[in-house]
Amino acid sequence: MFNRLSISATSFLGASCPIEIVVDYKEEVPKHVRILSDQTLPPNFPNGWIPILESRAIQNNEVKSVTCFGQELAVIRGAIGKVYVIDAFCPHLGANLAIGGEVNRTQNCKEDCIRCPFHGWSFRMSDGKCSDIPYEESPDKYAKVRLWECKEVNGAIFVWYHAESQTPNWHLQPVGPIESNDWIYRGRTEHLVNCHMQEIPENGADVAHLGEIHVQPFMYGSDLNRINKLKRLFNVLEHDWKAEWNVCNPPNDHMTEINIINTNKLFGIALLSVTLKVNQIGPGYVELRFQSSFLGGVKGVMLQFVTPIGPMRNSIVHQVYTENTLSGYFFSKFLLIAESKMLERDIQIWNRKAFMKKIYPSKSEKSLVKYRRWFAQFYSENSKRMIDW
Ligand code: FES
Ligand SMILES: [Fe+2]
Repeated sequence: MFNRLSISATSFLGASCPIEIVVDYKEEVPKHVRILSDQTLPPNFPNGWIPILESRAIQNNEVKSVTCFGQELAVIRGAIGKVYVIDAFCPHLGANLAIGGEVNRTQNCKEDCIRCPFHGWSFRMSDGKCSDIPYEESPDKYAKVRLWECKEVNGAIFVWYHAESQTPNWHLQPVGPIESNDWIYRGRTEHLVNCHMQEIPENGADVAHLGEIHVQPFMYGSDLNRINKLKRLFNVLEHDWKAEWNVCNPPNDHMTEINIINTNKLFGIALLSVTLKVNQIGPGYVELRFQSSFLGGVKGVMLQFVTPIGPMRNSIVHQVYTENTLSGYFFSKFLLIAESKMLERDIQIWNRKAFMKKIYPSKSEKSLVKYRRWFAQFYSENSKRMIDW
């Protein structure tokens, strides 16, 4: 089912060892089998602020290669920490600037530059222009790399993606307790999945699926066939979900809000409850604030970053931050493992489902219809479709 799984073994030893789980799902059937001719797939990528790399993945004076929107990008962090995102291919002869490129400040240029690994041309990060050619007296006047509008907030680097190159019409805000270090980083999970990006946030509006694939405890794992067998044998521990999904009012109509109460029940008796307030902010970013009765109470946030690598390939990263308490420490470990198992159940569905443009919502599934309407705001006239990709 997956071809790479790693779980950091030191995760449980101390607060300085945040947990990390990475699962890479390979494509099980060719894409075209899952794209039905009478059910047009949405455009490849939505407009908006899209997370492309976690902040912790790049140090000062480093460059990282990122594939996003089916394009090669280079993410650069300069000498004093400022982040830049550029198209990766060097205008000179096309080398990938993130593969062996060096972040430097040349003699001709006292600001952050990227030096190409192939012939050593440098490009300024302030305007993308060529600042130095090591074997010429002056830089090229016309060669220039494309700079993307980017922003670093809440532990991630986002770029503004827009099919018509329009400027941002909404903005991302920092989560206060993360900025002030009242809530500390507890770890991450990353899942590489094979579905259209729009399917992932649809999960929040699809309240009915909670009672089907997320009822059985996370200890039963993520294999849906195995869970079916286990639930026939031991139906003692269950999750009970109550959820409500809504679009936020203008000017925050790029956001949705879900209120969830999750109760863990043993033989039908409530043991532990978690209250969740989930804000989807644009097409690729979620803040899930939680409050749990675990060991006297824990508060914190789980952030979700969805990066569209290609039209049917996404990276989903979850990071958890909690208060700096012992209960926060233990709850965060529990949450990351439980979330990972629950998400993997969704992924089993996503990795093999077809996208249905025409759906058959039941009477109580109005939020599904509203969700499709809400998400459509992130596409525009020039949004490309798979066909012309
Ligand atoms: S390809 Fe980049 S300097 Fe030649
Ligand atoms: Fe789900």
